Amino acid sequence: MSEKEHKVSRRQFLTYSLVGVGGFMAASAISPMVRFALDPALEAGGESDYVAVTTVDQLSEEPQRFDFQVEVVDAWYTSNQPRSAWIYKEGDEIIALSPQCTHLGCTVNWNANEDHPNQFYCPCHDGRFEKSGQNVANTPPTRPLDIYEMEVRDGTVYLGKTIERKTV
Ligand code: FES
Repeated sequence: MSEKEHKVSRRQFLTYSLVGVGGFMAASAISPMVRFALDPALEAGGESDYVAVTTVDQLSEEPQRFDFQVEVVDAWYTSNQPRSAWIYKEGDEIIALSPQCTHLGCTVNWNANEDHPNQFYCPCHDGRFEKSGQNVANTPPTRPLDIYEMEVRDGTVYLGKTIERKTV
């Protein structure tokens, strides 16, 4: 190859640079979307297997936070990922709510704001939810906390995937 063929003109150099930078920026913008598309566990309804989380006799009318692990399988690998649920009894019913704020995804806590007792509170933007998980009007979240699919077998509470709910 001659020396002339190795030379890159200023115009070519600029073109390659711009294409490179543009490609990098496009990849940066698209990768979170791809991750969401490929990682079903990041969305409501993303998990299908039921996991033993607690026993019925540990529950009360007061929401308690339970942490557990789920096995997530995607096209390339299997991993254990942490999950949490706020679980409480209401009469004979057991309710398990996702702690993920439906505004921008921060973690909500029960009874954490003394100005708003007996609600779930999100510290990120003062989001609030009723005990049922319904979003409080005029706070940033526009829909309720997701609820877990649940089964009780032999006194053990199993949680499945989360279900998105609409505001009532
Ligand atoms: S993330 Fe919860 S209020 Fe914004």
